Amino acid sequence: MGNDIAATVNNIYTDFLQKYPAYASTSGIDKLRADDYGRIDRAHHIYLDYTGGGIYAESQVKKHQQILLENTFGNPHSSNPTSIYATHYVESARAYVLKYFNADPSEYDVIFTANASGALKTVGESYPFAGGDQYLLTFDNHNSVNGIREFAHSKGAEVTYIPMALPDMRVDESMLEDLWKKARPGGNNLFAYPAQSNFSSVKHPLEWIEKAHARGWDVLLDAAAFAPTNSLDLSRWKPDFVPLSFYKIFGYPTGLGALVARRQALRKLHRPWFAGGTITVASVQGDKYFLADGHAAFEDGTVDYLNIPAVEIGLKHIESIGMDNIQCRVNCLTGWLLDNLVAMKHTSGVPLVRLYGPTSTLARGGAVTVNFMDQFGRTIDHRFIEEAANNVNISLRTGCFCNPGAGEQALGISRVELDVCFNGPGHEDRLSLDDFRLCIDGKSSGAVRISIGMITNFDDVQGFLTFARSLVN
Ligand SMILES: Cc1ncc(COP(=O)(O)O)c(C=O)c1O
Repeated sequence: MGNDIAATVNNIYTDFLQKYPAYASTSGIDKLRADDYGRIDRAHHIYLDYTGGGIYAESQVKKHQQILLENTFGNPHSSNPTSIYATHYVESARAYVLKYFNADPSEYDVIFTANASGALKTVGESYPFAGGDQYLLTFDNHNSVNGIREFAHSKGAEVTYIPMALPDMRVDESMLEDLWKKARPGGNNLFAYPAQSNFSSVKHPLEWIEKAHARGWDVLLDAAAFAPTNSLDLSRWKPDFVPLSFYKIFGYPTGLGALVARRQALRKLHRPWFAGGTITVASVQGDKYFLADGHAAFEDGTVDYLNIPAVEIGLKHIESIGMDNIQCRVNCLTGWLLDNLVAMKHTSGVPLVRLYGPTSTLARGGAVTVNFMDQFGRTIDHRFIEEAANNVNISLRTGCFCNPGAGEQALGISRVELDVCFNGPGHEDRLSLDDFRLCIDGKSSGAVRISIGMITNFDDVQGFLTFARSLVN
């Protein structure tokens, strides 16, 4: 009996390799997982939330710890010996971020932030929107990109969303061409989109960057979900603002992100305030301040100088694995997951899942977003799926992943339904998630996201597929 099971497992793996032969070339990552990420398997985790956060290698933590244990660091806003050490590590990491993204230091700068959201807020609050200017963004943006619309509204700019075409959740380019024509000539027009959606995992074309530039737009390319499994070559693509979070790329440390920005675009921003570290001179009696140049003008107070050295360690770690290697592995595993999950059916013939996003690996990343259906085709509440997955130690993400626009389109929630919910008696100012669920009665308010990352292996995906099969009636 035991031999039969082992033979079946081997056969499945053979089938997988036949369909995705390139996976074999990534076997170095299996060794790395055993050596440097052993704690995942020791605790029998099936971790499938890489879009939520990456997993760090033990060696990253040890290298960082060694730097901390061997050096004495002081606040970098000084020029004493311990301060100089800190500055050295911070500036070395800054330069390494530029090198990693192949960005020319005379063209791009790096502002360290708390996370991608911090980078986005920096752009939003400083972008010189004025009456008649435009903020154009895709429906599938993260809430931290959506939030910039509040700055646009408050300064009288017009906000326009670009819808997704179902079922693939890509943008109709002819519509985009039309919307680009809205740019106010001579005005400040900002176009924002995710290089990879954190909902559907669609990779939107990087070619949009130059097209939008040519039509009078500044471009904010949200790379938070893209950077962990793709190379972004800033010598080839020239977005103005690139927000990202480092923990999503290499797991450690949390609390650090960056705004990689074109120097010429930074010069256009007007900060709404000044803070320690951002000025050359500020005066109380003179009621005046002079902002510093470049990144210094945007880094409020003291940067996270003890953790920033870990950024360089993390980037080198990714380089030692190789982004092509990572991407190849993620593609193979995502393809296998999609093939098998989409094919599962109840005995009634009803498919087990409804997929939101592309069914093939073409121009898509490693997150697969679905809702599970019962045998009658009714959506199973995503909270139930999460609980069932938790019980077998599978870490997934459920809900709308801070991406309400993609969720509303995928789940078929209309503007009218939302207006009713948002303007109902007693809900003028407050609406809890449970109130919202009740209000859109009968419709799912969220989905289930399975996301594959750099250190995922075949067993993780098979473990999830076994779980999914247990939900077939
Ligand atoms: C596409 C995208 N943008 C922005 C963010 C915000 O990142 P953070 O929460 O690290 O600020 C996320 C987080 O999931 C994301 O997926």
